[in-house]
Amino acid sequence: MEILAVMGSHRNGHNTQKALDFFLKQIKADHELYLYNVNKISVEPCKACDYCVDHQGECIIEDDDMREIYKRLETCDLLIIASPVYFSAFPSKIKALIDRTQMLYNLKDRSIIKKKKMVVIGVGGAPHYPRQFQAVVNTLEWYQKYLNCEEIGFVQFSHTDEVGALENKDGLKKLAELGEKVNALAADIEN
Ligand SMILES: Cc1cc2nc3c(=O)[nH]c(=O)nc-3n(C[C@H](O)[C@H](O)[C@H](O)COP(=O)(O)O)c2cc1C
Repeated sequence: MEILAVMGSHRNGHNTQKALDFFLKQIKADHELYLYNVNKISVEPCKACDYCVDHQGECIIEDDDMREIYKRLETCDLLIIASPVYFSAFPSKIKALIDRTQMLYNLKDRSIIKKKKMVVIGVGGAPHYPRQFQAVVNTLEWYQKYLNCEEIGFVQFSHTDEVGALENKDGLKKLAELGEKVNALAADIEN
C-alpha cells in the first residue's frame, strides 16, 4: 500500500508530529511511505495564473517539491493529513500545498487519480470549542471530492497547549483503532 502523509505543523517534534508518528506506528505491514514535513519541503504558493487550465497536468512552478507530491497524490492508497489549527484553520505552509493541488482540480480528466482513503489528525491548542476544526473540515470536503478520497477517520486533539498529544488517552485510543482499520484495508488491498 502506498501512503502519503503530510505533517503540517510549523514546529518539528511537537504535538502534530508526535500524533502522526504514533499513528504511523500502528500501521503494521511494510508499506511504501512518503512522509512530507512542511518545514523540510519547498512549496511555493499557487499563483492563481490558470496555467494548469490550458496546460493540463502541468503547473507553471516547476522547481519545487510539488512536482513529486502531485505524483504521490495521484497514486497513493492512503492520504494522511496531520495538522494543527492556526486561527481555527490550516496553517499557511500546508495550506499552500493544498492550494497547489488546484492543478489536479483543473484536470478535465481526473481518472489518473487513484481512489484512496483519507485520515485526518487535527490538533488545537485550546480546549475544544465549537467549530475548532470546522475550517479544516470545509477545506477537506472539496479536497476529498477531487482527489478521489474517502475519509475513514478524523481524530481531534484539543487542548494541546496544556495536555500534550501523547498524554491524551482518548485521542491515542482513537488513533490506535483507526490504525487497525487501516491494517484491515491494507490486507484487503494486498490480497
Ligand atoms: C499562529 C497560531 C494560531 C493558533 N490558533 C489557534 C486556534 O485558533 N485554535 C486553537 O485551538 N489553537 C490555536 N493555536 C495553538 C496550536 O494549534 C497548538 O499550539 C498546537 O499544539 C500546534 O501544533 P504543534 O504542537 O504540532 O506545533 C495557534 C497557534 C499558533 C502558532
